[in-house]
Amino acid sequence: MSVQSPIKRITAPEIGARKGGAPIVSLTAYHAHTAAIADKYVDFLLVGDSLGMVMHGFESTLPVPLELMIMHGRAVMRGAKRSLVVVDMPFGSYEESPAQAFHNAAKVIKETQCGAIKLEGGRRMGETIRFLSERGIPVMAHIGLTPQSINILGGYKTQGRERAQWAAIEEDALVVAEAGAFAVVLEAIAEPLAAKITAGIPIPTIGIGASAACDGQILVMEDMLGLSPQVAKFVKEFGEVGKAIEGAIRSYADEVRARSFPAPQNTYTAKD
Ligand code: KIV
Repeated sequence: MSVQSPIKRITAPEIGARKGGAPIVSLTAYHAHTAAIADKYVDFLLVGDSLGMVMHGFESTLPVPLELMIMHGRAVMRGAKRSLVVVDMPFGSYEESPAQAFHNAAKVIKETQCGAIKLEGGRRMGETIRFLSERGIPVMAHIGLTPQSINILGGYKTQGRERAQWAAIEEDALVVAEAGAFAVVLEAIAEPLAAKITAGIPIPTIGIGASAACDGQILVMEDMLGLSPQVAKFVKEFGEVGKAIEGAIRSYADEVRARSFPAPQNTYTAKD
């Protein structure tokens, strides 16, 4: 088989093999330029369906269509050259049957050339995860707080605060691992449960609001940059990008209104 590309991207099996090793670093990414910046520092980038809220102003992830995921997936693939790119399957594109999931996941892989897809759900998605994994599609699972089930969960609440909830969430983790997922996102899971799951399954756990006990971490990039108007309690803002953007726009507006922009050095001369 000939190798067409000199670029060595991190693969899903490489992420899977990191269980218990050096912590896995990841972020969401939705567009080419930020993907190119993050690419130097992360192991994988997730084109999350959170883009519906972050980029497109929807109130939840539920309205996001497959085509939007593909469009942003292609942009991130153009920007990122070494990290694994994982694209989220949006609500309604995979839950009906393993065949529906394969049809749409194959479309995502063909049209974006990403290295893996992610889908939400534990036990109920076991058969689908196996179906996809056995047919060449690496699957990252996502359990705990699954935002596509917001209307059933009744809110964005931490999962596993009560011990009575633990068994079901632990079973979700075991089922997705046994079905062939190469990693699993644990979202908003109480620390002792996240630690127990991480110790109890053979694939890496990627935490978001699920403590440092996980094998890796993911955050929504705009949240950690300080660009999102509202963030969950667990999010640490590592920058003040929202404030920087506002400051730059205010300065530009002030200069235009004062007729001091463009200054001579920003103006073409007749020679140009
Ligand atoms: O859509 C997303 O951004 C996600 C992360 C929160 C894991 O699924």
